[in-house]
Amino acid sequence: MEDDLNSIIADASAGVVSLSSRADFDQFKSKIVGPNGSLTKLKKNIGKMPKEERPVLGKLINTKGKEIEAILSLALEKIEDLERFKEIGSAVDPTLPVPDGSGGSYHLLTQVREEICSILHKVGFVVAEGPEAETEYYCFDALNTPPDHPARDLHDTYYLTENVRFGNVSKHDDERYLLRTHTSSVQIRTMLKTPPPLRIISPGRCFRRDTADATHSASFHQIEGLYVDKNVTVKDLKAMLDYFLRSLLGENAKTRFRPHFFPYTEPSFEVDFNASHLAKLGKEWIEIAGCGMVDPEVFKSVGYDPEEWTGFAFGMGIERIAMILYGIDDIRYFYQNDLRFLKQFG
Ligand code: DAH
Repeated sequence: MEDDLNSIIADASAGVVSLSSRADFDQFKSKIVGPNGSLTKLKKNIGKMPKEERPVLGKLINTKGKEIEAILSLALEKIEDLERFKEIGSAVDPTLPVPDGSGGSYHLLTQVREEICSILHKVGFVVAEGPEAETEYYCFDALNTPPDHPARDLHDTYYLTENVRFGNVSKHDDERYLLRTHTSSVQIRTMLKTPPPLRIISPGRCFRRDTADATHSASFHQIEGLYVDKNVTVKDLKAMLDYFLRSLLGENAKTRFRPHFFPYTEPSFEVDFNASHLAKLGKEWIEIAGCGMVDPEVFKSVGYDPEEWTGFAFGMGIERIAMILYGIDDIRYFYQNDLRFLKQFG
């Protein structure tokens, strides 16, 4: 009997090695412990043995039976592990380097924003920030934009629902929260907390109710500039934008001002540039920014004395500049996170 049991154990140990599926295992197991299994048969035989030998044999079968069970349950665990590996793939070692080895890179819009900031940083502008969720006061009223101005229209501006509250942006009871339509709101926030003179730039995200197409996106980026000092003139504004565009596009870039209207500057201009030395840009004049001399009404709304202080402001779209610089013909590429696009500028 003991020999029989030992040979069942030996067979079991040898047999489990080649089992690779649960079906194999079940079949194998039933050959040992199934109704006609080798161990089951031995157990049944005990009844035919002489009475006095039965307790010893019973004990032997129990101990050996436990060994067999252990062999079988270990085998089952291995098969379950195999099945799990099949489901989740091989074990992952998070300490290994990433397979494609590249360290990642900045998004093109970030690169262009940094380039713009570094050019303006050289002539003394420092970065100021403001919230994307704004109030009507900072986005419009303080910027001398009357309540009936078309930019305030529901068609252009995303207004937030009345019950919304932002802990970090306070507002009066009778005004609404909105998503800022331009970065010009940062002019007001900065002047309210900083005495003149000052020189700031403010890059950031803006929102307008535009239907997306090749040149429009409901969310986009601008960079705002504000310079306040004594005796600032249009000549200073023109010289600064000349410097900026020559730094961005090369020494031969030219700028031109066209009269325009913005509520917060007087006079106001649109700025075009010409960079015919760059083959990809050709001979035309391309619109790039809005600008002007800060309107005295704006100074009044932030408590600056318009008799004493003068200044200029400008604003431009970062996507637009990136598109011009890199020959990108659809603004939507910036937001689709398609690596084939992003990697061209990485
Ligand atoms: N806020 C304007 C826009 O979104 C751009 C602009 C124009 C900004 C004139 C200015 C400015 O600071 O003086 O189109």
